[in-house]
Amino acid sequence: MASYDFDEIIPRKNTNSIKFDFARERGLPEGLLPMWVADMDFRTAPEVIARLEEVARHGIFGYTEAKDDYYRAVLGWFGRRFGHDFDRSSVVKTPGVVYALAMAIRAFTAPGDPVIVQTPVYYPFSGTVRGNGRRLVDNALVYRDGRYIMDLVDLESKIVSEKARLLLLCSPHNPVGRVWDIDELAELGRICLRHGCLIVSDEIHCDFVFGGRRHHLLASVDKALEEITITLTAPSKTFNLAGLHCSNAFLPNPELRRLFKDEISRSGLSQLNAMGLAACQTAYEHGEPWLEALLGYLEGNIGFCHGFFLDRLPTLHLVEPEGTYLLWIDFGPTGLRHEEICRLVMDKARLWLDEGTMFGEAGTGFQRLNMACPRSVLAEALERLEKALS
Ligand SMILES: Cc1ncc(COP(=O)(O)O)c(C=O)c1O
Repeated sequence: MASYDFDEIIPRKNTNSIKFDFARERGLPEGLLPMWVADMDFRTAPEVIARLEEVARHGIFGYTEAKDDYYRAVLGWFGRRFGHDFDRSSVVKTPGVVYALAMAIRAFTAPGDPVIVQTPVYYPFSGTVRGNGRRLVDNALVYRDGRYIMDLVDLESKIVSEKARLLLLCSPHNPVGRVWDIDELAELGRICLRHGCLIVSDEIHCDFVFGGRRHHLLASVDKALEEITITLTAPSKTFNLAGLHCSNAFLPNPELRRLFKDEISRSGLSQLNAMGLAACQTAYEHGEPWLEALLGYLEGNIGFCHGFFLDRLPTLHLVEPEGTYLLWIDFGPTGLRHEEICRLVMDKARLWLDEGTMFGEAGTGFQRLNMACPRSVLAEALERLEKALS
């Protein structure tokens, strides 16, 4: 079996990485340890690198499309790993999940229409809703006993009172790390079906699920649900390919698919990036052993964090990372105000994290830390926090 060295520290400075090289441009001091944006400090699967080298050596980068083998690779991944067979005709390729989110908002709602999100949530959800002149309706998650659940009673009442026709679901949820269980998804689905509310289900983190849990594709929960669900996926988180801009949406409902494709067409997009298509296909065809090894390593990082928070960071609460490689850390028990927490993290710990209110007001008192890095780097980050708090 191949072995992969996830402990290797690969220098990323001076690669034009937004994580490492753009502190000054973003008004931040230099020299912070960057643990913010959701890409990984690991090299992608060797098979993907080899394929990209092959494409690069050919040296002609003309307009490129996907053939049957691309679709077989994509559909095969979701069939094998999630037990759901999407139809080939349902696939719509997009250059990113946030782009697809924006296209869905434009295709399925009109300016001024309500769109429901569940805060705290990945900030482009609110950004694309507002940026496209739609009205943000918040069905906030409930934080109870250190864990998040959905408020499905509130969801139904808001769909009805606001006459909402679109919900943006994040599954698994960034930043709170929940892997929604099948009963939660089924009930959410029943509510949306009852009131004719479409669901854009952003499942970009579907491959990162820990502790023996299982990710359920929303579209797989119920046949009727598939008809009102737009599933957004990408190999970019899974294989660390965000800069290659290739993602796949699934719209089994032909009418929704037509509207979505029309919107994409109006945006001026035709083909995707040739390197992105090649990487996506190869990752889904040959990347599974690498991913399994990576998941084992990340489970190890989570275990390390559990121990560290328990023994050395007793005034912080680590919300259980059921899925995603993002830690959602509750600084509430420190008694510090949000601005004091931000100052402590940046000025004393010298860490670059995502501060909680970026994800909505509900993120007050929280910080998000990306743990997809070598364990020694993670240890350094947590030690800095420990020292700053002592
Ligand atoms: C939930 C979620 N959706 C989408 C994205 C970004 O997707 P893309 O780079 O394909 O636009 C991220 C990245 O962190 C994410 O966490």
